[in-house]
Amino acid sequence: MQNLIDGRQIAADIHAETRVRVEALRSRGVTPRIVFVRVGEDPASRVYVGMKERICAELGLESTTLVLDTATPQADLLARVVALNADASVHGILVQAPLPAQIDAPTVFATVAVDKDVDGFHPVNVGRLLLGDSSGFVSCTPAGVHELLLRSGTPIAGANVVILGRGNIVGKPMAAILMQKGPGADATVTVCHSRTRGIEEYCQRADILIAAIGVPRFVTASMVKPGAVVIDVGVNRVADSSARSGSRLVGDVDFAAVQPIAGRITPNPGGVGPMTIAMLMRNTVRAAEIQHE
Ligand code: GUN
Repeated sequence: MQNLIDGRQIAADIHAETRVRVEALRSRGVTPRIVFVRVGEDPASRVYVGMKERICAELGLESTTLVLDTATPQADLLARVVALNADASVHGILVQAPLPAQIDAPTVFATVAVDKDVDGFHPVNVGRLLLGDSSGFVSCTPAGVHELLLRSGTPIAGANVVILGRGNIVGKPMAAILMQKGPGADATVTVCHSRTRGIEEYCQRADILIAAIGVPRFVTASMVKPGAVVIDVGVNRVADSSARSGSRLVGDVDFAAVQPIAGRITPNPGGVGPMTIAMLMRNTVRAAEIQHE
């Protein structure tokens, strides 16, 4: 069926745009540089940081990964971040979540310099987004979903958007992006979550349904209005005895059931995931451009 929103292709288009900007910086003697900080050996985080390093290399960005012991005290991590803030050769800093229990993630995110916060997690950048001030960095996953909507020609102004999930990384910033006044936004946004009563009825009214609730195959066919645009942000590991590893990743949408009803739908994998990395690369290049203006 031809109703897929191809995140891999759209990410490749954005990478091509980013590469041009990297070359322009490099011709001025500036190589955009990001430092990844990973605390402990969370297997998913190892995979994600590895993927980000690979794409950096492909696009001509420099990347360094600091791997800290799982038992690293918060004060030590904060001292590392402060040193990176002061290092003029570093344009972007990303502290990979999840972090071990002794570390308070919001404190860490608030310690990253605002102009190096390519994750868009610093309270100042979150505040700028909410205020409609485009000078800040926007969290990569919701920024990537926004680009998928824009580049797939999905009408957003006046649309009923339902976001499933109210997390700080996806749901809240996603709502802020789409409710803004202005081009590429102007949507009517509803945020549903685990305590929402009658969640099915909200979903059925959505012109654009964005699932970031973290429940495997939560969105079923009966929840989707025919012709709606469905974006699946979910990454859920579920047991699968037929898989060699004993488990596999599934999204928040029952893709097989929903695809025939949806107007457009993201595959998962191959939808939102590649866009998150594309936005991180773009944010990092922008950070380097701003720091060398
Ligand atoms: N863990 C899962 N998603 C993200 C992300 O976008 N940024 C960081 N730093 N950690 C994550």
